[in-house]
Amino acid sequence: MAKVDPWEMTQVKDYAKLVRDFGIRGFEDFQRRFEYLRYVRRGIIFGQRDFNLIVDAIDHGRPYAMMTGLMPSGCFHLGHKMVADEIIWFQGLGAQTYICAADVESYLMRDVQFDEAWETAIQDYLANYFALGLKKDNLHFWFQSDYVNPYYRLRDMASKRVTFNELKAIYGDLSPSKITSALTQVADILHPQLPEFGGPKPTVVPVGADQDPHIRLTRDIASRLNAKRGSRRDMRCVAPSATYHKFMSGLTGDKMSSSDPKTHISLTEQPKKAAKKVLSAKTGGRETVQLQRKKGGEPDKCVIYELYLYHLIDDEAELSRIYHECRSGKLLCGQDKKDCARLVERFLSKHQGNLEKARSRARKFIKKV
Ligand code: TRP
Repeated sequence: MAKVDPWEMTQVKDYAKLVRDFGIRGFEDFQRRFEYLRYVRRGIIFGQRDFNLIVDAIDHGRPYAMMTGLMPSGCFHLGHKMVADEIIWFQGLGAQTYICAADVESYLMRDVQFDEAWETAIQDYLANYFALGLKKDNLHFWFQSDYVNPYYRLRDMASKRVTFNELKAIYGDLSPSKITSALTQVADILHPQLPEFGGPKPTVVPVGADQDPHIRLTRDIASRLNAKRGSRRDMRCVAPSATYHKFMSGLTGDKMSSSDPKTHISLTEQPKKAAKKVLSAKTGGRETVQLQRKKGGEPDKCVIYELYLYHLIDDEAELSRIYHECRSGKLLCGQDKKDCARLVERFLSKHQGNLEKARSRARKFIKKV
Protein backbone atom coordinates (compact mmCIF):
# COMPACT_ATOMS: atom_id res chain seq x y z
CA MET A 1 0.00 0.00 0.00
CA ALA A 2 1.42 3.36 -1.02
CA LYS A 3 2.14 5.83 1.77
CA VAL A 4 0.85 9.37 1.77
CA ASP A 5 3.62 11.68 2.94
CA PRO A 6 2.23 15.06 3.97
CA TRP A 7 5.63 16.72 3.56
CA GLU A 8 6.67 15.21 0.25
CA MET A 9 3.47 14.55 -1.61
CA THR A 10 3.83 15.34 -5.29
CA GLN A 11 0.69 14.74 -7.30
CA VAL A 12 -2.16 12.36 -6.65
CA LYS A 13 -3.08 10.41 -9.75
CA ASP A 14 -5.83 8.24 -8.40
CA TYR A 15 -8.21 9.61 -5.80
CA ALA A 16 -10.39 6.51 -5.89
CA LYS A 17 -7.39 4.45 -4.77
CA LEU A 18 -6.80 6.80 -1.88
CA VAL A 19 -10.40 6.28 -0.86
CA ARG A 20 -10.00 2.50 -1.10
CA ASP A 21 -6.67 2.28 0.68
CA PHE A 22 -7.26 4.57 3.62
CA GLY A 23 -10.97 4.36 4.32
CA ILE A 24 -11.83 7.88 3.27
CA ARG A 25 -15.51 7.83 2.29
CA GLY A 26 -17.01 9.40 -0.81
CA PHE A 27 -18.93 12.65 -0.63
CA GLU A 28 -21.95 11.42 -2.65
CA ASP A 29 -24.38 11.38 0.28
CA PHE A 30 -23.87 15.10 0.80
CA GLN A 31 -23.56 16.13 -2.82
CA ARG A 32 -27.16 17.18 -3.37
CA ARG A 33 -27.48 19.14 -0.20
CA PHE A 34 -24.35 21.21 -0.71
CA GLU A 35 -24.33 21.37 -4.48
CA TYR A 36 -24.56 25.15 -4.33
CA LEU A 37 -20.86 25.04 -3.51
CA ARG A 38 -18.87 24.76 -6.72
CA TYR A 39 -16.26 22.44 -5.22
CA VAL A 40 -18.97 20.03 -4.08
CA ARG A 41 -21.00 20.22 -7.28
CA ARG A 42 -17.97 19.45 -9.39
CA GLY A 43 -16.59 16.63 -7.27
CA ILE A 44 -13.49 18.59 -6.26
CA ILE A 45 -14.38 17.85 -2.66
CA PHE A 46 -14.32 14.12 -3.23
CA GLY A 47 -14.18 12.55 0.19
CA GLN A 48 -14.96 12.80 3.88
CA ARG A 49 -14.74 11.13 7.23
CA ASP A 50 -17.69 11.32 9.64
CA PHE A 51 -19.12 14.32 7.86
CA ASN A 52 -22.58 13.19 9.00
CA LEU A 53 -21.66 14.43 12.50
CA ILE A 54 -21.26 17.92 11.11
CA VAL A 55 -24.52 17.78 9.19
CA ASP A 56 -26.29 16.54 12.34
CA ALA A 57 -24.87 19.41 14.35
CA ILE A 58 -26.01 21.88 11.69
CA ASP A 59 -29.48 20.34 11.57
CA HIS A 60 -29.95 20.34 15.33
CA GLY A 61 -28.40 23.73 15.94
CA ARG A 62 -25.65 22.18 18.07
CA PRO A 63 -22.20 23.73 18.30
CA TYR A 64 -19.47 22.42 16.03
CA ALA A 65 -16.11 23.67 14.86
CA MET A 66 -14.23 24.01 11.61
CA MET A 67 -10.49 23.80 12.02
CA THR A 68 -7.74 24.00 9.48
CA GLY A 69 -4.18 25.21 9.20
CA LEU A 70 -1.82 26.88 6.80
CA MET A 71 1.91 26.70 6.37
CA PRO A 72 3.09 30.27 6.09
CA SER A 73 5.76 29.61 3.51
CA GLY A 74 5.61 30.91 -0.02
CA CYS A 75 2.82 33.04 -1.39
CA PHE A 76 -0.95 32.72 -1.30
CA HIS A 77 -2.06 31.24 -4.61
CA LEU A 78 -5.18 29.86 -6.24
CA GLY A 79 -4.72 26.51 -4.49
CA HIS A 80 -4.95 28.31 -1.16
CA LYS A 81 -8.00 30.21 -2.35
CA MET A 82 -9.87 26.92 -2.54
CA VAL A 83 -9.19 26.26 1.16
CA ALA A 84 -10.20 29.82 1.96
CA ASP A 85 -13.50 29.37 0.13
CA GLU A 86 -14.14 26.18 2.11
CA ILE A 87 -13.37 27.90 5.41
CA ILE A 88 -15.73 30.73 4.52
CA TRP A 89 -18.40 28.22 3.53
CA PHE A 90 -18.27 26.55 6.95
CA GLN A 91 -18.15 29.85 8.76
CA GLY A 92 -21.31 30.83 6.87
CA LEU A 93 -22.92 27.59 8.05
CA GLY A 94 -22.30 28.64 11.65
CA ALA A 95 -19.09 26.75 12.47
CA GLN A 96 -16.84 28.07 15.20
CA THR A 97 -13.90 28.92 13.00
CA TYR A 98 -10.35 27.91 13.97
CA ILE A 99 -7.43 28.70 11.69
CA CYS A 100 -3.89 27.93 12.66
CA ALA A 101 -0.76 29.53 11.27
CA ALA A 102 1.62 26.56 11.33
CA ASP A 103 4.78 28.53 12.03
CA VAL A 104 6.31 25.71 14.08
CA GLU A 105 5.80 23.32 11.18
CA SER A 106 7.17 25.77 8.60
CA TYR A 107 10.20 26.40 10.84
CA LEU A 108 10.86 22.71 11.40
CA MET A 109 10.07 21.39 7.94
CA ARG A 110 10.74 24.32 5.58
CA ASP A 111 13.30 26.33 7.50
CA VAL A 112 11.16 29.50 7.60
CA GLN A 113 12.13 31.87 10.41
CA PHE A 114 9.38 32.85 12.83
CA ASP A 115 9.26 36.58 12.11
CA GLU A 116 9.06 35.89 8.41
CA ALA A 117 6.30 33.31 8.97
CA TRP A 118 4.27 35.80 11.03
CA GLU A 119 4.59 38.46 8.38
CA THR A 120 3.46 36.03 5.67
CA ALA A 121 0.63 34.57 7.76
CA ILE A 122 -0.84 37.99 8.52
CA GLN A 123 -0.13 40.09 5.43
CA ASP A 124 -0.64 37.34 2.93
CA TYR A 125 -2.81 34.55 4.31
CA LEU A 126 -5.12 36.19 6.84
CA ALA A 127 -5.47 39.31 4.68
CA ASN A 128 -6.43 37.24 1.66
CA TYR A 129 -8.94 35.29 3.75
CA PHE A 130 -10.55 38.56 4.81
CA ALA A 131 -10.54 39.89 1.26
CA LEU A 132 -12.24 36.69 0.09
CA GLY A 133 -14.98 37.09 2.68
CA LEU A 134 -13.85 35.61 6.01
CA LYS A 135 -15.53 37.35 8.98
CA LYS A 136 -13.81 38.03 12.25
CA ASP A 137 -16.77 37.02 14.41
CA ASN A 138 -16.35 33.57 15.75
CA LEU A 139 -12.79 33.42 14.41
CA HIS A 140 -9.83 31.98 16.31
CA PHE A 141 -6.53 32.54 14.52
CA TRP A 142 -3.29 31.59 16.26
CA PHE A 143 0.36 30.78 15.78
CA GLN A 144 1.58 27.36 16.81
CA SER A 145 4.57 28.95 18.53
CA ASP A 146 2.56 31.43 20.55
CA TYR A 147 -0.69 30.14 21.98
CA VAL A 148 -2.30 29.11 25.29
CA ASN A 149 -1.16 26.54 27.87
CA PRO A 150 -3.99 24.02 27.51
CA TYR A 151 -3.02 23.62 23.86
CA TYR A 152 0.58 22.71 24.68
CA ARG A 153 -0.57 20.43 27.50
CA LEU A 154 -2.79 18.64 25.01
CA ARG A 155 0.15 18.18 22.63
CA ASP A 156 2.16 16.61 25.44
CA MET A 157 -0.71 14.35 26.42
CA ALA A 158 -1.14 13.29 22.81
CA SER A 159 2.48 12.15 22.65
CA LYS A 160 1.69 9.53 25.28
CA ARG A 161 -1.18 8.09 23.25
CA VAL A 162 0.83 6.87 20.25
CA THR A 163 3.83 4.62 19.81
CA PHE A 164 6.94 5.20 17.76
CA ASN A 165 6.07 2.23 15.56
CA GLU A 166 2.61 3.58 14.86
CA LEU A 167 4.11 6.89 13.79
CA LYS A 168 6.53 5.04 11.54
CA ALA A 169 3.68 3.10 9.99
CA ILE A 170 1.82 6.32 9.25
CA TYR A 171 4.65 8.61 8.15
CA GLY A 172 7.45 6.32 6.99
CA ASP A 173 10.79 7.97 7.66
CA LEU A 174 10.66 9.93 10.88
CA SER A 175 12.63 12.75 12.42
CA PRO A 176 12.16 14.67 15.68
CA SER A 177 10.90 17.61 13.62
CA LYS A 178 8.30 15.51 11.88
CA ILE A 179 7.09 14.09 15.18
CA THR A 180 6.76 17.55 16.72
CA SER A 181 4.94 18.84 13.63
CA ALA A 182 2.54 15.92 13.64
CA LEU A 183 1.76 16.14 17.38
CA THR A 184 1.32 19.90 17.15
CA GLN A 185 -1.18 19.33 14.38
CA VAL A 186 -3.04 16.88 16.62
CA ALA A 187 -3.32 19.65 19.21
CA ASP A 188 -4.45 22.08 16.51
CA ILE A 189 -7.28 19.80 15.56
CA LEU A 190 -8.43 18.65 19.02
CA HIS A 191 -8.00 21.72 21.22
CA PRO A 192 -11.31 23.37 20.20
CA GLN A 193 -12.86 20.59 22.28
CA LEU A 194 -10.99 21.40 25.49
CA PRO A 195 -13.07 22.71 28.38
CA GLU A 196 -11.42 26.10 27.88
CA PHE A 197 -12.90 26.23 24.38
CA GLY A 198 -16.40 25.05 25.23
CA GLY A 199 -15.90 21.27 25.49
CA PRO A 200 -16.44 18.34 23.15
CA LYS A 201 -18.02 19.01 19.79
CA PRO A 202 -17.82 17.69 16.26
CA THR A 203 -14.97 19.35 14.37
CA VAL A 204 -14.51 19.28 10.65
CA VAL A 205 -11.08 19.67 9.10
CA PRO A 206 -11.18 20.63 5.41
CA VAL A 207 -7.90 19.53 3.87
CA GLY A 208 -6.14 18.25 0.79
CA ALA A 209 -5.70 14.51 0.53
CA ASP A 210 -2.02 14.84 1.51
CA GLN A 211 -3.05 15.72 5.07
CA ASP A 212 -4.91 12.49 5.66
CA PRO A 213 -2.08 10.87 7.66
CA HIS A 214 -2.49 13.66 10.24
CA ILE A 215 -6.24 13.12 10.29
CA ARG A 216 -5.81 9.37 10.87
CA LEU A 217 -3.32 9.96 13.65
CA THR A 218 -5.58 12.53 15.31
CA ARG A 219 -8.60 10.25 15.14
CA ASP A 220 -6.64 7.41 16.77
CA ILE A 221 -5.33 9.66 19.50
CA ALA A 222 -8.82 11.11 20.07
CA SER A 223 -10.25 7.67 20.69
CA ARG A 224 -7.45 6.91 23.16
CA LEU A 225 -7.90 10.19 25.00
CA ASN A 226 -11.48 9.10 25.43
CA ALA A 227 -10.52 5.87 27.13
CA LYS A 228 -11.49 5.91 30.80
CA ARG A 229 -8.00 5.06 32.01
CA GLY A 230 -5.47 7.81 32.42
CA SER A 231 -4.94 10.98 34.38
CA ARG A 232 -7.70 13.33 35.49
CA ARG A 233 -6.58 15.89 33.00
CA ASP A 234 -7.56 13.57 30.16
CA MET A 235 -10.14 15.02 27.93
CA ARG A 236 -13.15 13.58 26.27
CA CYS A 237 -13.49 14.47 22.64
CA VAL A 238 -15.21 13.57 19.43
CA ALA A 239 -12.92 12.11 16.76
CA PRO A 240 -12.53 14.83 14.14
CA SER A 241 -14.39 14.75 10.85
CA ALA A 242 -12.70 15.75 7.61
CA THR A 243 -13.45 16.74 4.05
CA TYR A 244 -10.89 16.12 1.32
CA HIS A 245 -10.33 18.14 -1.83
CA LYS A 246 -8.39 17.39 -4.97
CA PHE A 247 -5.48 19.59 -5.94
CA MET A 248 -5.40 21.87 -8.92
CA SER A 249 -2.55 21.24 -11.32
CA GLY A 250 0.08 23.90 -11.71
CA LEU A 251 0.07 26.08 -14.84
CA THR A 252 2.81 23.93 -16.30
CA GLY A 253 0.78 20.76 -15.81
CA ASP A 254 2.97 19.64 -12.90
CA LYS A 255 2.35 20.25 -9.24
CA MET A 256 1.28 23.74 -8.21
CA SER A 257 3.97 24.98 -5.88
CA SER A 258 4.20 28.15 -3.76
CA SER A 259 7.90 28.33 -4.31
CA ASP A 260 7.78 28.15 -8.11
CA PRO A 261 6.03 31.18 -9.69
CA LYS A 262 5.82 29.46 -13.09
CA THR A 263 3.37 26.97 -11.66
CA HIS A 264 0.92 29.22 -9.82
CA ILE A 265 -1.07 32.40 -9.91
CA SER A 266 -0.64 34.29 -6.69
CA LEU A 267 -3.53 36.42 -5.48
CA THR A 268 -1.18 39.34 -5.06
CA GLU A 269 0.65 39.28 -8.36
CA GLN A 270 0.13 41.92 -10.99
CA PRO A 271 -3.01 41.06 -12.96
CA LYS A 272 -1.28 41.72 -16.28
CA LYS A 273 1.59 39.45 -15.40
CA ALA A 274 -0.77 36.71 -14.29
CA ALA A 275 -2.69 37.03 -17.56
CA LYS A 276 0.57 36.50 -19.44
CA LYS A 277 1.25 33.32 -17.50
CA VAL A 278 -2.16 32.04 -18.50
CA LEU A 279 -1.26 32.55 -22.15
CA SER A 280 1.64 30.14 -21.80
CA ALA A 281 -0.11 27.56 -19.61
CA LYS A 282 -0.35 23.92 -20.60
CA THR A 283 -3.55 23.10 -22.47
CA GLY A 284 -5.18 19.96 -23.78
CA GLY A 285 -4.57 21.10 -27.36
CA ARG A 286 -3.34 18.97 -30.27
CA GLU A 287 -0.06 19.47 -32.11
CA THR A 288 -1.57 21.47 -34.94
CA VAL A 289 -4.66 23.59 -35.50
CA GLN A 290 -5.80 21.26 -38.29
CA LEU A 291 -5.59 18.25 -36.02
CA GLN A 292 -7.45 20.06 -33.28
CA ARG A 293 -10.23 21.11 -35.64
CA LYS A 294 -10.55 17.49 -36.62
CA LYS A 295 -10.13 15.65 -33.33
CA GLY A 296 -11.08 18.36 -30.84
CA GLY A 297 -9.14 19.34 -27.71
CA GLU A 298 -8.88 17.49 -24.40
CA PRO A 299 -10.35 19.71 -21.67
CA ASP A 300 -9.81 17.03 -19.06
CA LYS A 301 -6.07 17.41 -19.52
CA CYS A 302 -6.14 21.21 -19.73
CA VAL A 303 -4.96 23.64 -17.07
CA ILE A 304 -7.11 26.42 -18.53
CA TYR A 305 -10.17 24.27 -18.08
CA GLU A 306 -9.15 23.57 -14.50
CA LEU A 307 -8.92 27.27 -13.82
CA TYR A 308 -12.53 27.62 -14.95
CA LEU A 309 -13.60 24.55 -13.04
CA TYR A 310 -12.08 25.54 -9.70
CA HIS A 311 -12.32 29.28 -9.75
CA LEU A 312 -13.33 31.30 -12.74
CA ILE A 313 -16.66 30.05 -14.04
CA ASP A 314 -19.48 29.30 -11.66
CA ASP A 315 -22.22 28.85 -14.22
CA GLU A 316 -22.65 25.20 -15.27
CA ALA A 317 -24.16 26.00 -18.66
CA GLU A 318 -21.26 28.29 -19.56
CA LEU A 319 -18.69 25.74 -18.41
CA SER A 320 -20.38 23.00 -20.37
CA ARG A 321 -20.52 25.15 -23.50
CA ILE A 322 -16.76 25.68 -23.33
CA TYR A 323 -16.17 21.99 -22.65
CA HIS A 324 -18.16 20.88 -25.66
CA GLU A 325 -16.87 23.54 -28.01
CA CYS A 326 -13.34 22.46 -27.10
CA ARG A 327 -14.11 18.77 -27.54
CA SER A 328 -15.70 19.38 -30.92
CA GLY A 329 -12.77 21.39 -32.23
CA LYS A 330 -14.74 24.60 -32.49
CA LEU A 331 -12.95 26.43 -29.70
CA LEU A 332 -9.18 26.52 -30.14
CA CYS A 333 -6.59 27.01 -27.42
CA GLY A 334 -5.45 30.46 -28.55
CA GLN A 335 -8.90 31.97 -28.13
CA ASP A 336 -9.61 29.99 -24.99
CA LYS A 337 -6.42 31.14 -23.32
CA LYS A 338 -7.20 34.74 -24.16
CA ASP A 339 -10.67 34.42 -22.64
CA CYS A 340 -9.22 32.82 -19.55
CA ALA A 341 -6.49 35.45 -19.22
CA ARG A 342 -9.15 38.14 -19.26
CA LEU A 343 -11.08 36.40 -16.47
CA VAL A 344 -7.93 36.00 -14.38
CA GLU A 345 -7.03 39.63 -14.84
CA ARG A 346 -10.51 40.77 -13.89
CA PHE A 347 -10.64 38.52 -10.83
CA LEU A 348 -7.23 39.68 -9.56
CA SER A 349 -7.95 43.37 -10.11
CA LYS A 350 -11.17 43.13 -8.17
CA HIS A 351 -9.63 41.03 -5.41
CA GLN A 352 -6.66 43.32 -5.01
CA GLY A 353 -9.03 46.25 -4.70
CA ASN A 354 -10.19 44.67 -1.43
CA LEU A 355 -6.78 43.66 -0.25
CA GLU A 356 -5.45 46.93 1.13
CA LYS A 357 -8.30 47.24 3.62
CA ALA A 358 -8.12 43.52 4.38
CA ARG A 359 -4.43 43.91 5.27
CA SER A 360 -5.10 46.52 7.86
CA ARG A 361 -7.95 44.44 9.25
CA ALA A 362 -5.61 41.47 9.48
CA ARG A 363 -2.96 43.51 11.30
CA LYS A 364 -5.52 44.89 13.70
CA PHE A 365 -6.91 41.43 14.34
CA ILE A 366 -3.51 40.09 15.31
CA LYS A 367 -1.69 43.15 16.63
CA LYS A 368 1.56 41.27 16.25
CA VAL A 369 3.46 42.95 13.42
N1 TRP B 1 0.22 20.62 7.85
C1 TRP B 1 -0.62 21.56 7.15
C2 TRP B 1 0.04 21.90 5.79
O1 TRP B 1 1.05 21.38 5.45
C3 TRP B 1 -0.86 22.80 7.95
C4 TRP B 1 -1.61 22.53 9.22
C5 TRP B 1 -1.16 22.75 10.49
C6 TRP B 1 -2.94 22.01 9.36
N2 TRP B 1 -2.09 22.44 11.40
C7 TRP B 1 -3.20 21.97 10.76
C8 TRP B 1 -3.90 21.59 8.45
C9 TRP B 1 -4.42 21.51 11.25
C10 TRP B 1 -5.12 21.11 8.96
C11 TRP B 1 -5.36 21.07 10.35
O2 TRP B 1 -0.48 22.68 5.04
